[in-house]
Amino acid sequence: MKILVFGRNGWIAGQIHPLLTRVGDIVYAASRLQDQDAVSAELDAVSPDKVILCAGITGRPNVDWCETHVEETMAVNYYGTLHLITACNERGIHITNFATGCIFQYDDTHPIGGSAFTEEDIPNFFGSVYSRFKAAVETATKSLPNQLLFRIRMPITCDSSPRCFVTKIANYNKIVDIPNSVSVLPDLLPLAVEMIRSGDVGVYNLVNPEPVSHTQILDAYAEIVDPLFLYNVMDMAEHNTVVKAGRSNNALCTAKLQIRFPGITIPTAVSSIRNLFERNMPALRGQHIPRSILVTGGCGFIGSGFVRFVKSPQRKPISVIVLDRMDACSSRMSLHDCDVTIIEGDIADIEKVSHILAEHNVDTIVHFAAQTHVDASFESAFAFTETNVLGTHKLLHATTTAPSVKRFIHMSTDEVYGETTDHTSGVKEDVFLQPTNPYAASKVGAEALVCAYQKSYGLNAVIIRANNVYGPGQYPEKLIPRFLLRHQLGLPLQVQGSGHQTRHFLYLSDAIRAICVVVSRGLSGSIYNIASKDELSVLGVAKKIGGSTVSSVHVSDRKFNDQRYWVDDQKLRSIGWTQETSFDMGLKTTREWYATTELISYWPSYKIALHDLD
Ligand SMILES: NC(=O)c1ccc[n+]([C@@H]2O[C@H](COP(=O)([O-])OP(=O)(O)OC[C@H]3O[C@@H](n4cnc5c(N)ncnc54)[C@H](O)[C@@H]3O)[C@@H](O)[C@H]2O)c1
Repeated sequence: MKILVFGRNGWIAGQIHPLLTRVGDIVYAASRLQDQDAVSAELDAVSPDKVILCAGITGRPNVDWCETHVEETMAVNYYGTLHLITACNERGIHITNFATGCIFQYDDTHPIGGSAFTEEDIPNFFGSVYSRFKAAVETATKSLPNQLLFRIRMPITCDSSPRCFVTKIANYNKIVDIPNSVSVLPDLLPLAVEMIRSGDVGVYNLVNPEPVSHTQILDAYAEIVDPLFLYNVMDMAEHNTVVKAGRSNNALCTAKLQIRFPGITIPTAVSSIRNLFERNMPALRGQHIPRSILVTGGCGFIGSGFVRFVKSPQRKPISVIVLDRMDACSSRMSLHDCDVTIIEGDIADIEKVSHILAEHNVDTIVHFAAQTHVDASFESAFAFTETNVLGTHKLLHATTTAPSVKRFIHMSTDEVYGETTDHTSGVKEDVFLQPTNPYAASKVGAEALVCAYQKSYGLNAVIIRANNVYGPGQYPEKLIPRFLLRHQLGLPLQVQGSGHQTRHFLYLSDAIRAICVVVSRGLSGSIYNIASKDELSVLGVAKKIGGSTVSSVHVSDRKFNDQRYWVDDQKLRSIGWTQETSFDMGLKTTREWYATTELISYWPSYKIALHDLD
């Protein structure tokens, strides 16, 4: 059997090729659909038994393209397609048209969860140029005796193809959440080819039974494939502001297809997608998917928050090992209900770290361990250099002897930039670093070493620079818990210097989500700022905590106190992160936590951190 295929370079043609080779001899058309004379001439020259139409314009990067290229779209998807179908009809050649189901929209007769559109239904979605031409061609050619027309929707292969619907939505910053019929190609193309072989005609909804929502797909992705994967949902109003063309949402009925194949149970979309995730896991997005994570400083504030998130019951189980020196600010209690291995030790202990990396086959290191309190860095600066610079260096060195390590995430701070002096825009990641205190300087030193190991040893490393993070579980030496607890105890809130210096405050869960996005999608060698929209002065924080009449006492200022850090986080937002928690919301939760938690069990000597400053 001779099969002439239009759309040689197309994605669907590529998917169907190996199946078609079992049915007949494939010839790929050289003519273009819009060149109607050439198409007719090729049909006559090749004289095929079957024609397969996989050609057409779908728009790049998406169908919005068609809105501004109406003539090109019309020439191919309307006139060219109509011509090929009618030319085949005139010659008595069987033609299979891989068309679309995106010509329907939920309506009163076919609401979400209600009856699905059958092959007899007439298109009711004309919200895009693409869909209008597709609907017109189906309507015009539906009754021709030699055409087999497949309505395909949101095709899915669950491999790393950028055309696969799953790849697309996994890479969107935000998704809408509407159930839709989808075509899981590995299930459906074998059926399509059998129908081509046997010369079926008519319209078929080539989709899997039961629509699936975007969140169902991505939840399964997070559960099965990538334990750190996160997504954001938007409503239709927001969606309509980011697309040019309308998008069709519908459920297509699969009864006709199932009757055609009585002995075959076509899997539901959800079960099929989950199955493909299991099978194709490593190839899915070509991105790093952690299986065994070493979290340094994992009993500290941010580290333990990260571990709790990764180990939360709804996420895919993954091995987490915490290495922590258990300084006063750390707490085993913070991980009391997490199934993790906690190893007490120093990141500077190369032998110990190497042993951990090998024994646990660690593929990802998320490096939080550090001396973190700026005030302390003025008094015991060498301790900061020892852990933050030398400790990080030794940790990096240990990775060079551990082939299992595929990713190194280094947690740094906005303080590395030094004080913001240009108030016209936030600083981007590539500016010159001008730290002003020993803590910030030691974090610059650590970053420099991470960059060096990325370049010289090919370490897949990413740096994150965060604003001030706050939330439950932060040791009370830091501003917000210190103010909350002193206020609770009726002690005055001590403000260093004028108190007019400002900071951007980022709630813990937002910081954790940002870290997860970077682990999954950050590019090696890149640096990502995490910025909060909430900028407050120290006095402003005192008022938020104690009310406008709060009693605050001014004490002597730091040797140097940066007035402001203002960073730009566009780069992080471009890979899918947005701040979710406002300062007021985050503070409310934090306040409740400090008011209701038995802090002694967290940090036996926490009261020392509440001492008077002067
Ligand atoms: N908290 C913030 O506002 C903020 C903002 C930006 C960046 N960061 C960075 O995030 C990371 C975590 O900060 P945090 O607020 O959770 O700090 P934290 O002080 O609460 O925790 C640090 C943890 O590191 C451990 N540690 C210290 N030295 C160690 C060593 N040599 N070996 C092993 N463990 C050691 C401590 O015991 C502690 O558990 C740090 O790298 C910090 O510089 C913090």
